[in-house]
Amino acid sequence: MATKLTININIDVLESAAELSEQELKAMELAQQAAADAYAPYSNFLVGAALVLEDGTMFKGSNQENAAYPSGLCAERTALFGLSAHYPNAKIKLLAVTARRRHEQEFLPAMPCGACRQVMAEYEFKQKEPIPVLLQAADGKFYRFKSVADLLPFQFTPEHL
Ligand code: THU
Repeated sequence: MATKLTININIDVLESAAELSEQELKAMELAQQAAADAYAPYSNFLVGAALVLEDGTMFKGSNQENAAYPSGLCAERTALFGLSAHYPNAKIKLLAVTARRRHEQEFLPAMPCGACRQVMAEYEFKQKEPIPVLLQAADGKFYRFKSVADLLPFQFTPEHL
């Protein structure tokens, strides 16, 4: 008989912004600002991502769409690739993501797509330290993950090559 493998993932559910740390709040606010700068004329779905570095420096990204749809890029990867291009040795201490529809105030659940999770996993592997991830959730709540690994179990890493 097959043995069963159970994966336990612990996620902190924060009921409101009042439960975020000071750093998390700053990162989420930067992600919200970044969303306002998204270039998303096709989906009108604005996504913002913010990265916090070891020294407290923050870096942002937003989704960048294209008339040739697949040529666009998600906010998370825009932020991560931009950071890596500017500061190749930066250690990421936090990644925060939020989203909303254009012309609407309410922030919506920001669930990183599979490709973005894979890219996050690469940088987590590279820095040899977990990257905590803070996601906007429904109804003004937030999800706090301890690491990208919790968002992407069974991930493909350079070790599998
Ligand atoms: N999008 C992101 O920026 N991040 C995600 O994790 C999911 C989707 C963007 C891509 C596209 O510009 C728009 O949201 C609608 O899919």
